[in-house]
Amino acid sequence: MKTLKNGELWYDTQGNVIHAHGGCMLKKDGYYYWYGENRNDDNYISCYRSADLREWEFRRHILTTHSPVSKSRVKASLTLVNEKGGKVNLERPKVLYNAATKKYVLWVHYENGENYREAACAVATCDVPDGDFVYHGHFNPFGYMSRDCTLFQEEDGTAYFISAARDNADLHIYRLQEDYLNIDSLVNRLWQGEYREAPAVFQRNGTYYMLTSFCTGWKPNQGKYGTAESMDGKWSILKEFGDETTFHTQPAFVMPIGSPDNREFLYISDRWDEEDYNHSSYVFLKLTFDAEGGLHLEYDENVPLEGRKGWKEKGIDDGEASGNS
Ligand code: GAL
Repeated sequence: MKTLKNGELWYDTQGNVIHAHGGCMLKKDGYYYWYGENRNDDNYISCYRSADLREWEFRRHILTTHSPVSKSRVKASLTLVNEKGGKVNLERPKVLYNAATKKYVLWVHYENGENYREAACAVATCDVPDGDFVYHGHFNPFGYMSRDCTLFQEEDGTAYFISAARDNADLHIYRLQEDYLNIDSLVNRLWQGEYREAPAVFQRNGTYYMLTSFCTGWKPNQGKYGTAESMDGKWSILKEFGDETTFHTQPAFVMPIGSPDNREFLYISDRWDEEDYNHSSYVFLKLTFDAEGGLHLEYDENVPLEGRKGWKEKGIDDGEASGNS
């Protein structure tokens, strides 16, 4: 069986290049669903799934220029093309499952396709993980700028949207409403003036970790992370992980893998190609932790944790949530 090599182009089971840039993963019914940016044709976001993190089956372009639209708040612009009829930019899509509403809810960074001045977020939903998502429009949370973003879900279902504000100088943590369709409140502002972006959040042994990059576009830089005892609590100062280019990667997401008593954390990242976006690749690495909870990242040319089956096959329940431990 083929092994995925980090930084190479990866192909789906139909032989097409996988486009899931700036993406995320969600585990449901024994499958890992992988969502990410796809800038080709009329597509915005594509979805693949795998039972073993190795063979990726293309499922659908879940958000495109002609996706269905429906308002979920009083004011939100529903346009999926810009004023000139061109494509907008939808970057860093993240998806959570809301157990109360039984909806898959997607949040994404929205720009108008011409420049980065909208600095907005957008929301879409679906009844299944890999169906046609309904677009609910873009807006600025409480009027703030909102660029690189992620989602994080607690075990009790409380969810947070984290995004870069004030021209990327600060990172905001917003608690979502119970239905995940709107923002409830701004609960934290982190690392003001540090220009951190590409946030990825997870929780391990009661400690919350947030991985970030510096703000140099698609050029890689030194990864840094902070820790906290709660999302709305006090976060540590930033510490470095990986090398000065984070092994030529930028964080996209951290996916907890395995049963609760045998949990590992997969660093899912992009190796962007500035010259040819479609030649951008992925690097998956295992995060390691020292006795004090310090986080480390080492390079490996092979994708780790391959062959990890979905829990149904092994009869092990290793959780359904996308970002918690
Ligand atoms: C990066 C950001 C990416 C994309 C890129 C465009 O800083 O993390 O999501 O927006 O800039 O240059």
